[in-house]
Amino acid sequence: MISLRDKVSIITGASSGIGQGTAVLFARLGSKLVLSGRNSQALDETINQCDPETRKNIIKVVGDISKPDTCKMIVYESLEKFGKIDILVNNAGILKTAGIETMQMNDYDELMDTNIKAVINLTQLCLPHLLEQKGSIVNVSSIAGSKTFPNILAYCMSKAALDQFTKCVALDLASRGVRVNAVNPGVILSNIQRRNGLTEEQYRQYLEDAKLNHAMGRPGHVIEVANTIAFLASDLASFITGELVQIDGGRHLMGPIDNN
Ligand SMILES: NC(=O)c1ccc[n+]([C@@H]2O[C@H](COP(=O)([O-])OP(=O)(O)OC[C@H]3O[C@@H](n4cnc5c(N)ncnc54)[C@H](OP(=O)(O)O)[C@@H]3O)[C@@H](O)[C@H]2O)c1
Repeated sequence: MISLRDKVSIITGASSGIGQGTAVLFARLGSKLVLSGRNSQALDETINQCDPETRKNIIKVVGDISKPDTCKMIVYESLEKFGKIDILVNNAGILKTAGIETMQMNDYDELMDTNIKAVINLTQLCLPHLLEQKGSIVNVSSIAGSKTFPNILAYCMSKAALDQFTKCVALDLASRGVRVNAVNPGVILSNIQRRNGLTEEQYRQYLEDAKLNHAMGRPGHVIEVANTIAFLASDLASFITGELVQIDGGRHLMGPIDNN
């Protein structure tokens, strides 16, 4: 059985989708939680989804993760409330549709600031505390870190950077007992595509396509990613570091019949 009893975990992007599901699962597994996102009300909804007896051990930190002050506040509040940090889940991320001909540099900057620079910044700030606890980091990357897709250039680049970040930092920290891993989901039911501007009809079609381009014939659910994040973060994964775990219903196994 996975247990996160008495661990203190920071989860970014906990107001929606994968981060929200991970927060609810971590609370059930006994972790104390520091939840981050920009939408304060949505963070409250996440806390309300957690079992009532766990809520006293959950705090939220509201702010834009791409701003260094938000990262500082997350670490400050974690230590102030719980006195230590055991687990960092770098999950917050955004997606923007654009290829080389259409990509705007301000969109590129926003995406890189959120998907990779914030991860570096928060990891650096948490590191002394993770070293103290011999803790672990789980980064939420994507199948787009290694597989190429048209028209989401900056997103693919950001996740490729996150994959290398995961492996390089794992090597840097391995001898000092901090493990660093990533999960690389395929299509997972969440809000990321609608936030990227897909209409309901486009999103419906996108999910229909996912039945064809995922070997298991369906998109994935948030809990299917959260379960692996919990395992990698937990002591059950005590000899696993630098691993990128594909959670994509076998999509990475499929040939170039589809490019969605
Ligand atoms: N869903 C998929 O198909 C899929 C596939 C592969 C990888 N992923 C990855 O999974 C992660 C989570 O995505 P999701 O699908 O769960 O998307 P989502 O439902 O849109 O949730 C994204 C989360 O990130 C937070 N966030 C975004 N920008 C932020 C910022 N500047 N500051 C603070 N928080 C920010 C959002 O919080 P606020 O709105 O409160 O700011 C929200 O909680 C992302 O890294 C994404 O790349 C998703």
